[in-house]
Amino acid sequence: MGNKEMDQATNLRRMIKGESDRIYKLKKDNRDGSFSPINRPRVIAITSGKGGVGKTSVVGNLAIACQRMGKRVLIFDADLGLANIDIIFGLNPRHNIKEVIEGEKELSQIIVKGPEGVAIIPASSGVQELAHLTEGQKINLLNEFDILNNMFDILLIDTGAGISSNVIYFNLAAEERMVVVTPEPTSITDAYALIKVMFYQHGTKNFFLLLNMVKDEKEAKSVYKNLSRVVARFMGGISIDYTGFIPLDSLLQESVSRREPVVCCYPESSSSNSFKELAKYLLRQTDRRTIDGNIKFFWKRLMAGAIDKENEVGD
Ligand SMILES: Nc1ncnc2c1ncn2[C@@H]1O[C@H](COP(=O)(O)OP(=O)(O)OP(=O)(O)O)[C@@H](O)[C@H]1O
Ligand SMILES: [Mg+2]
Repeated sequence: MGNKEMDQATNLRRMIKGESDRIYKLKKDNRDGSFSPINRPRVIAITSGKGGVGKTSVVGNLAIACQRMGKRVLIFDADLGLANIDIIFGLNPRHNIKEVIEGEKELSQIIVKGPEGVAIIPASSGVQELAHLTEGQKINLLNEFDILNNMFDILLIDTGAGISSNVIYFNLAAEERMVVVTPEPTSITDAYALIKVMFYQHGTKNFFLLLNMVKDEKEAKSVYKNLSRVVARFMGGISIDYTGFIPLDSLLQESVSRREPVVCCYPESSSSNSFKELAKYLLRQTDRRTIDGNIKFFWKRLMAGAIDKENEVGD
């Protein structure tokens, strides 16, 4: 590490240390900076075919649920839409990743602290810039992200909806992806379309499926069975894992208007309990991970994918 990187690492640590004693203690246990593949961060994209199915709600509440289980969670808000993670968290970030790309700010200066110590990289317009980086900018950015590998256990990415190239890039770059789907027919057909593009055009074979806004477990399982049956029939070798469901919960809706995650303001609500179960499930799933599944490699793949794609379509 050069001096600049060391300063940034110190700034990031300071920022996180200030937020919560629990996080700092975890950090201390791990602070020799040794990097073991077992302990490397997981990178999970939360995605959907159709918009408005609950991705951002899942990202925010799942992040807190994982943090409560002792994990250090970083959220990357890669959605260009309006109802972003900062709204659910009641934050007003002043900077975003665009300023890091342009060399005006360091990562430590743009990462914001959310509830219970969850960290957020605000993106907004910066997401589009990621597809147009110079080699120098790429190297700088990768060095910045390298620092994060030792500081977080999980990176959750809130992607936009649909099959636009931005959404696909993030889903490809992440090692794991969770498709959020509701029982609504268009949500199911759009989830199918997303899985199909990922499978046929990019060879992606592993997906988690999360059912949101369902009446009960029976409904969740029935949607899962129907979708996974069709997928299995047309896409050989694909695996769609059922991660559980989040019930339709009016308290979750209310929490959005309060700009506070439901697991914070209504920790005993049905949706909060389901987020806890979801976190437990995900934290048990560690066996499918490949050796390059850390945050730096996520960015490497992301930028490589973006550039390749750009050349392919010739714009
Ligand atoms: N389990 C749930 N129960 C009740 N309402 C929910 C649930 N999940 C999400 N919602 C409602 O749906 C709205 C949209 O959710 P959210 O913003 O998380 O979706 P999104 O997939 O991120 O949307 P976009 O595609 O626009 O980014 C929320 O404001 C909330 O009111
Ligand atoms: Mg969203």
